[in-house]
Amino acid sequence: MGINILGMGSYVPGQKLTNNDFTRFIETNDEWIRTRTGIVERPMAGWEPTWYMGLKAAEKAVQRAGIDPKEIGLVISTTATADFHTPSMASIIQDKLGAANAGAFDLNAACTGFVYALDTARRFVETGDEKYVLVVANESLSRFLDFTDRGSCILFGDGAAAAVIEKSSKLYSSALGSDGSGGKLLCARALNVAPEVRTEAPDDFTDEFPDMPLHKLFQNGKEVYKFATCALPRSFELAAQKIGITKDDIDWFVPHQANIRIIETAAKKLGAPMEKFIVTLDHYGNTSSASIPLALNEAIEKGTIKRGQKLALIGFGAGLTFGGIILEY
Ligand code: UT7
Repeated sequence: MGINILGMGSYVPGQKLTNNDFTRFIETNDEWIRTRTGIVERPMAGWEPTWYMGLKAAEKAVQRAGIDPKEIGLVISTTATADFHTPSMASIIQDKLGAANAGAFDLNAACTGFVYALDTARRFVETGDEKYVLVVANESLSRFLDFTDRGSCILFGDGAAAAVIEKSSKLYSSALGSDGSGGKLLCARALNVAPEVRTEAPDDFTDEFPDMPLHKLFQNGKEVYKFATCALPRSFELAAQKIGITKDDIDWFVPHQANIRIIETAAKKLGAPMEKFIVTLDHYGNTSSASIPLALNEAIEKGTIKRGQKLALIGFGAGLTFGGIILEY
């Protein structure tokens, strides 16, 4: 039992940072960023709250799905960059959208968030409990980037994308995974802990990385890179083996958009041609959980991805998490 993606929408803020913009405040250059990551520019939210971008994307998705917001039974918002610890982004979006009959909650699986949320949404429609579920991926990574760390701040962008799904009998398989032992490799502290008790806290990540900035994204790029190049192919293979299909059955791979070299290495490991991989990181950067649905929506809007084609959505991210969904569009 699978899902039908009834409608999708996306929203990115109008402001952006080009590679050259970074040369004004850190030691970097356009060539390094292009060749090491594939990124050229990335949208920046500025004044726009995370939920606002999510709402804009959700409005488009609902309009394209051709349904009334009151028919939505559940709103799941994926974010690692919520405007509030509480209320959830999902509750704010549910209200502003007029989804008066929907439940709402946020889901945080970092950059793998959309894969986790779509798979969660699938279970709600599959049981028949809800007819339509709205998944909204919205992220403002720029709000917690350490703009003095040239190894991480150049990677990320802000944006949102949303999908309305319903139950269907189309092809579907999924696999979700996590290796929490890698949590400290990509993290940002939420609540403040007094410096004098910080080192006494069990498993406090600052034991290992004393320079980790409070409330800013900290990343060990090399280790995350290694994890990512294994996690992407693994996410596909775990989902594929459940339904006995191979990479040759897939029309389009839609991977998490973190670094072009990660995607190229994953393609090689899978033995699939790069031409089958949707790439949007050059103009969006890494938008965390919004990256896969932004890429998916753009490819649908351009007519690259067509109805009836088989897709593999494969992601990885902080947690460390990973996950894949194989579905027919
Ligand atoms: O959603 C998941 C998010 N995270 C990721 O996916 C990150 C995965 N990791 C990566 O994408 C890569 O590891 C990075 C892009 C972060 C770094 O690329 P790298 O090829 O692993 O570079 P590196 O860390 O080995 O650094 C090579 C050199 C270093 O200089 P030295 O020590 O060789 O003199 C860095 O200091 O490049 C330097 N460097 C930079 N130079 C110019 C690091 N960042 C920059 C920069 N501009 N922005």
